[in-house]
Amino acid sequence: MRSTKFLSLLPFVRLAMGQNTWSFVQQGNSGIIPLELITLSPTLALMYDRPYVNPLKLPDGEPAWAGLWHLDTNTATPLRTITNTFCASGGFISNGTHVAVGGQPLDAIPGWGNATDGTMGIRLFGPCTSADGTGPGCTVFEDPATLHLVRTRWYPTAVRIADGSLFIMGGSDILTTFNAPDIAQNNYEFFPPRAGEEGTVRDSKFLNDTLPANLFPRSMMLPSGHILMIANNQSVIYDIDTNTELMRLPELPNGVRIGVPFDGFAQLLPLSPPLYEPTVIACGGSNKPDTITLEEMSVNDVASTQCQRITLTAAGVAAGWEIDHLPEPRVMAETVILPSGDVYILNGAHTGYSGYPSVGDSGATGTNAANPAQQGIMYKSTLPLGQRITQVGIPTSPIPRMYHSAATLTAKGNIMVAASNPHPFVLTADNNPNNLSFPSEYRVEYLSPDFITNNSPRPVISKSPSQLAFNANGTITVTIPASLAAGELQVSLMDMGFVTHGWHAGSRLVFLEHTLSGSTLTITAPPNGNIYPPGPAWIYVVADGVWSEGVQVMIGDGGNPPRPAQGVPVTITSL
Ligand SMILES: *[C@@H]1O[C@H](CO)[C@@H](O)[C@H](O)[C@H]1NC(C)=O
Ligand SMILES: *[C@@H]1O[C@H](CO)[C@@H](O)[C@H](O)[C@H]1NC(C)=O
Ligand SMILES: *[C@@H]1O[C@H](CO)[C@@H](O)[C@H](O)[C@H]1NC(C)=O
Ligand SMILES: *[C@@H]1O[C@H](CO)[C@@H](O)[C@H](O)[C@H]1NC(C)=O
Ligand SMILES: *[C@@H]1O[C@H](CO)[C@@H](O)[C@H](O)[C@H]1NC(C)=O
Ligand SMILES: *[C@@H]1O[C@H](CO)[C@@H](O)[C@H](O)[C@H]1NC(C)=O
Repeated sequence: MRSTKFLSLLPFVRLAMGQNTWSFVQQGNSGIIPLELITLSPTLALMYDRPYVNPLKLPDGEPAWAGLWHLDTNTATPLRTITNTFCASGGFISNGTHVAVGGQPLDAIPGWGNATDGTMGIRLFGPCTSADGTGPGCTVFEDPATLHLVRTRWYPTAVRIADGSLFIMGGSDILTTFNAPDIAQNNYEFFPPRAGEEGTVRDSKFLNDTLPANLFPRSMMLPSGHILMIANNQSVIYDIDTNTELMRLPELPNGVRIGVPFDGFAQLLPLSPPLYEPTVIACGGSNKPDTITLEEMSVNDVASTQCQRITLTAAGVAAGWEIDHLPEPRVMAETVILPSGDVYILNGAHTGYSGYPSVGDSGATGTNAANPAQQGIMYKSTLPLGQRITQVGIPTSPIPRMYHSAATLTAKGNIMVAASNPHPFVLTADNNPNNLSFPSEYRVEYLSPDFITNNSPRPVISKSPSQLAFNANGTITVTIPASLAAGELQVSLMDMGFVTHGWHAGSRLVFLEHTLSGSTLTITAPPNGNIYPPGPAWIYVVADGVWSEGVQVMIGDGGNPPRPAQGVPVTITSL
């Protein structure tokens, strides 16, 4: 516990720049458990769950397992889906369509909604341009007979790459706590398929080497266009164009692992011009050996506090992982990167593991974890070691958010927090005969910084481009309140990521070069698709640590993937 808690007794103390205080409000019920959550627009978020008896019903009365969350009215509407969407990954592609890939094998349980096997699923959504989520583009498109993955993937990761398509990694054939050689998909594929590689996959030595803790590999595209993958206690830099592993990074120190079921979190920190040097954090998880058996594992096994970062340059890798510590152990936490570049860490537990009940003592509670972590942690990316991690100004939610919880940034600039369901069925507080822990959670909360809660002056974007070519200039009309004008001005270009299982695939923040003249802010788009992959983005203007509402922009030409190289090459130091 930090000794700084007394600050809450002094409400009139102005906290240092960026040291916002935050608070929760609870608004609405999600109708399904949005364990996959994707912000689509200022008014809409896309939610995916699994088929079981959710309160949200399709027009024919069948329970829904997908839906739209209306951020303006705090209500849910159902979406019809064919395949079982559970435990998928995904992202936006260069033409603005959202693609979810993989999922769960068939749940043949009458009354749970008649999904088909989702493990090879490909689900296209949008662009949906109406504010209320009706009309063209606002439905999930699936055609399992003709549009499907090459391999069956439960727990894969997908990230958008420089050509605007998705690079899809790993997974397994069936539900499991640990991945295993006979069910693992230790390989990669693309959506859309690469020319010449249709119907084939690329074998992955890295994924093979990181069994049994390689599901949902924490992966990001570096400013070189290469892919960083972290799984178990290992990391690799992979070159997509030559299909080679360029290097393995030093192992995570002190026996710590962050791969499923030791779910730690990883986040690419903001990329800043001119060099866009990438630094990654990898935190929490567990220091248990990956040879531990389910019988030996306990819901009370304390997670790791270790929080390490590494800069993916030659010098950074030579220096290795720099070790820091969270104020409390964390498993299944997730990271929401904020427009200021700081990272809000929330949800999850202090002890246990991810997954459906399977560890030695999970019987009594029906879960694999205990001791919910209901207070968040702020990670201040740019501060020196020892000053980055704080819980000052960070509230505690009354709601435990365990396995299958979610959180995402919204256009308003606050964080939508939803879901939690460690049970393989819906368990409500008033229908829990065996008194299992952590009932299925439909309550939605919003976590807001004080400047939103108090309606304090913020930068206001009144006009912005809907599309920006790489390396091109655009102009934004912005009002910066006088009270913030003396502080640092930042322009953040963001992908909020595909949120599931404590992992925000594809989340990215690139700070843009800019000049302000009166109310005209001239911004320069990222130089090329390695820095920010072509596709949809959000722009926020941040003055003295206070961000505007976000506006959407299409980066690049908006065409179908794969896109040819756009923009200009720049000198970078990224590996
Ligand atoms: C759902 O079940 C009904 C009745 O068995 C069937 O007609 C329909 O095709 C099924 N729908 C899907 C999406 O499988
Ligand atoms: C995977 O790893 C195992 C054990 O190290 C090894 O025997 C096997 O050859 C590897 N397979 C591939 C495809 O690399
Ligand atoms: C990483 O994991 C492997 C396999 O379990 C283990 O042998 C190795 O000691 C670990 N590395 C570190 C630095 O703990
Ligand atoms: C239900 O479990 C909780 C602990 O999770 C315990 O405090 C409570 O007494 C239990 N209630 C019943 C009726 O067993
Ligand atoms: C883009 O704007 C910057 C100022 O932000 C300016 O230095 C640069 O010359 C502009 N580039 C073009 C091509 O207009
Ligand atoms: C976007 O591209 C994908 C892949 O080529 C395609 O299937 C989809 O129809 C495209 N979306 C739109 C809106 O054209």
